[in-house]
Amino acid sequence: MIIYYDQIDSTNRIAKELALEGNSSGTVVRAGMQSTGKGQYGRTFSSPIGGLYFSLLLQPILNQEHLPLVTLATGLACREVLSSMFNLQSQIKWPNDIYLDAKKIAGILCENVIVSNSENAISTVVIGVGLNVNNTIDDFPLELQSCVTTLFEQLHVKVELDALFSALVTAIKEKVFILSKDRHALLAQWQRYDYLANKAVIYTAGSRTVQGTGLGISPEGYYRIREYSGVEHCLVGGQLRAQS
Ligand code: BTN
Repeated sequence: MIIYYDQIDSTNRIAKELALEGNSSGTVVRAGMQSTGKGQYGRTFSSPIGGLYFSLLLQPILNQEHLPLVTLATGLACREVLSSMFNLQSQIKWPNDIYLDAKKIAGILCENVIVSNSENAISTVVIGVGLNVNNTIDDFPLELQSCVTTLFEQLHVKVELDALFSALVTAIKEKVFILSKDRHALLAQWQRYDYLANKAVIYTAGSRTVQGTGLGISPEGYYRIREYSGVEHCLVGGQLRAQS
């Protein structure tokens, strides 16, 4: 089932409601624009008309501790579709951003919903994807304009949103299936497209700050950093960015 809104506050919010109501794996909520798209860390995701915004419900067969890897699988799927459809070679900034020309072109927000009754608990992942497609830079708030890009800015032609949407949904389902079968193969693939690898990075979580060099992901999907002192850290949660 695909539910389409010309405009909604957030497709993830609707998709989570649908998951709680017991809607099945494969249900998708899509919107032409979002008034308060949700980003990571409680931020708003700018979602002007012309972009592609959707949330896919999936019930992958995964241990609870591997659910965060769905974000990485989704990033790989987005990267692959941009490459196969447009020959654009993007990279993934751990854990959830797609970068092209050192600018963000897409963001991913996965949220888990657990519905339990007296007999069992069903865990559904809401996979939210926002991709800047037929927008121009002027469509974004001034403070974002220097750090985002869109397919239109890259290709100088408008893209057919429906075909891109179908390709992305298919690719995400495939990658999440691979994740459930062979997690290590998927993580190895991810390392090839790591935007932060070998870059000077800074990680912050509350009052904690770690600065060093990006080393890629651990077998659990955490991000590894080597401090300049040589000490290595494996980080999860918090915010990670390239140092300017
Ligand atoms: C981020 O960049 O921090 C993640 C952004 C995720 C945005 C998508 S757009 C579709 C879905 N609905 C939302 O409200 N958020 C996600």
